[in-house]
Amino acid sequence: MSAGSPAAGKPGGFVNWVDSRLPVFSYLQKEYGEYPAPRNFNYWWNFGALAMFILVTMIATGLLLAMQYTANTEMAFDSVQRIMRDVNFGWLLRFLHMNGASFFFLVIYIHMGRGLYYGSYKAPRELLWMLGVVILLLMMATAFMGYVLPWGQLSFWGATVITNLFSAIPLVGDGIVTWLWGGFTVDNPTLNRFFTLHFLLPFLIVGVVVLHVIALHVHGSNNPLGIDPKGPQDTVPFHPYYTMKDSFGLCVFLLVYAGFVFFAPNWFGEPENFVPADPLVTPLEILPEWYFLPFFAILRSVPDILFIDAKLAGVLAMFGSIFVLFLLPWLDTSKVRSCRFRPTYKWFFWILVLDMILLGYVGGNQPDDLSPLGVRFIVLGQIGTLYYFFHFLILLPLLGKIERPRPLPASISEAVLPANRAGGGAPAGATAQRMEKAR
Ligand code: HEM
Repeated sequence: MSAGSPAAGKPGGFVNWVDSRLPVFSYLQKEYGEYPAPRNFNYWWNFGALAMFILVTMIATGLLLAMQYTANTEMAFDSVQRIMRDVNFGWLLRFLHMNGASFFFLVIYIHMGRGLYYGSYKAPRELLWMLGVVILLLMMATAFMGYVLPWGQLSFWGATVITNLFSAIPLVGDGIVTWLWGGFTVDNPTLNRFFTLHFLLPFLIVGVVVLHVIALHVHGSNNPLGIDPKGPQDTVPFHPYYTMKDSFGLCVFLLVYAGFVFFAPNWFGEPENFVPADPLVTPLEILPEWYFLPFFAILRSVPDILFIDAKLAGVLAMFGSIFVLFLLPWLDTSKVRSCRFRPTYKWFFWILVLDMILLGYVGGNQPDDLSPLGVRFIVLGQIGTLYYFFHFLILLPLLGKIERPRPLPASISEAVLPANRAGGGAPAGATAQRMEKAR
């Protein structure tokens, strides 16, 4: 039993009794109490904990909704209306769940952006990052199938359009679509299997998140400077320092989340999905939820390429845009992790963020419409798509070779402790000058 375990020095007691037989409390104390976290985390390090909170909220509200929902094409829409009107606090459960999905993606995109900016995907955290990408794919599948469940017009037509993408695969494509549908159209078997999978996948996500956090704790967290802690002076115990900081972040998040749930619950929604699914009436616009729009834009932007027709090329580009993230740890050849010391890459990071916003904007418009810039949206989408792949496949490998990073501080504590900054402590002279430049 470690010196800091909850049972240490406290003989007897229920905790001690359990811990000596099944050391769960010692484990929690070691991994979440004493876990040596770099002392310089900023607020971007709150988003992993926030993601965990939302995951639990989604599972809890989803379970309660599932108790009232009916996965049958004749009854699904009405059962959701019943939840909204007749079930005690059903409206609250549904709004928490619906808006929770949007906030989940928002938090995860920020969490990923933090990883990109501070180079958290680099050795030795490659697997941690790749498990994150697996989580992202599972989240996308879960969200897509969840959107089908209320059986509104966009549920039905969204499912039809997206599952139909597989028909682009030569020879076997049509067979795959029939297999996915469980028939010759999106119908009752499709709704049923989507409900089953929408219920199952979040638990799979929990499993991968556990692996994600285990992988994190093997080498410890990265930090805004991107350098490894050199000793105890560079870290603080996770509790109480970061449990407090995470709790504060959670309170701020809850304010925003509650603001939407109580005051603008349909802000992320589409009016078309208040209309029950009708296989005979195709809506004028079939758009996915906002968090899929950049990928939707990539799907629609790609033209015919040689012997590959536009549909297949679009599907390949869309899946490729996620797959490329798996390769990121090897595509980025720079030895320096944090953008703080990468003066050129920092610019390109922000250009990539703008590019994703541009793609999202394009995805929400009709490709042939004229954009305010005077060119058709499809052209903007093509530029955005080209830049996306240019960034990952060409820029990152080259930049690592030619960029001259700024000098790194000798240690975290040297860089962040006021005594050292003022020269009142140990290091001064050349190191202090280096730090001044870096700032
Ligand atoms: C359900 C979704 C997820 C949950 C619950 C989750 C949870 C966490 C937690 C608790 C941490 C430690 C705290 C922090 O650094 O913020 C973390 C770190 C990390 N996560 Fe996630 N994560 C999720 C998805 C993702 C995704 C989609 C990616 C990227 C594709 C990702 C990449 C990372 C990386 C690289 C770190 C290490 C951060 C560092 O040390 O700098 N995570 N995650």
